[in-house]
Amino acid sequence: MKKIELITRNELETRFKECLQQRRMPDYFLYIGEQRGNKSWHNVNSCKELPICAQLTDLLRQSLPSLVDSFPRNLSLVSIGVGRGEKERLLLEALLKRGLSRYYAVDISSRMIDEALRAVADLKVDKVGLVAFLEDLPLLRQYWSPPILLCLLGNTFCNFDPNYILALIWGQLEESDLLLLDCHLLSDQMEESNDPGQEQIERIYRTEPTMRFSINPLVQRGFDTDNCVFHLEFRPVETDIGLVYKTNKQLQVLKNTTISCGQDTVSLSSGDVIQLGFTYKYTRQQAEEYLRRNGFEKLQTFLSSDGENLLLLVRKGQEGQGSPGKASLGEKD
Ligand SMILES: C[S@@+](CC[C@H](N)C(=O)[O-])C[C@H]1O[C@@H](n2cnc3c(N)ncnc32)[C@H](O)[C@@H]1O
Repeated sequence: MKKIELITRNELETRFKECLQQRRMPDYFLYIGEQRGNKSWHNVNSCKELPICAQLTDLLRQSLPSLVDSFPRNLSLVSIGVGRGEKERLLLEALLKRGLSRYYAVDISSRMIDEALRAVADLKVDKVGLVAFLEDLPLLRQYWSPPILLCLLGNTFCNFDPNYILALIWGQLEESDLLLLDCHLLSDQMEESNDPGQEQIERIYRTEPTMRFSINPLVQRGFDTDNCVFHLEFRPVETDIGLVYKTNKQLQVLKNTTISCGQDTVSLSSGDVIQLGFTYKYTRQQAEEYLRRNGFEKLQTFLSSDGENLLLLVRKGQEGQGSPGKASLGEKD
């Protein structure tokens, strides 16, 4: 078991300062930091208001018997944004029966990597933890050799611009590699009539634990929770495939304050608005359309019985079939 840190705590702290100076706080800062940050994630992850991650784990568990048949022998499992690695444990147990090369757990949170490696400590497979941005996939790929099963699980796909993340992955996969990704879908109810679904999503994401989780990186650096208002909207945005729903999360600062970032500080003024990370909600057709447009070919699709969660196994399509064309690699966050 080995852990390689491609980015240090100090570099992340500098990144935090730069983002905050631009009044942005991307989602990956939610997972970095002292135990309190990760504990918050555990609370949100397991709390009854936000069962998405648990539902996605259930869907993977149910789909495994059929999924495993598509896996070539002796592949390596690479999970980007691995988190606590619960889903990867399920996959590894199934893969071990077919012969498995290695397990690479990638996450920007060093503590998550520790947890993910601990979660499979008893399994007989070579394990490598990589503390890195998944955006650095072109650098990371030097660590493994094909064939790989690349996992992007826990609804992480929906936290990125879809064309950006799919083009990034497409560019680094070989013909023999597979991609497994999941997402929590826009409910039919929401598609048919905006309001009820919109309220439902806002209810999920505007819960007390979610709000505390969203503010936690600032709280850890000396921010007072009473010094802000949390705004969350769920709205349709026009994209290359039509209207897609997206959350918009912001923190409005109420009083002048100073945030410590390592050796430095960032001053925030009353009225400042800090833009937080986002989540897209796609219909099944939209998620599949993004994959097709970005050059992926569907191998297996699993939909939960309530129609709310989707798990897709895909591979790079043949040359010329829906190659990533217009998809462009945009900004990191
Ligand atoms: C929504 S959680 C999902 C965790 C896990 N895959 C699951 O299914 O429960 C997202 C994970 O991705 C990591 N993450 C978020 N943005 C990242 C980035 N840009 N680079 C690397 N890891 C990232 C977080 O630290 C967190 O562990």
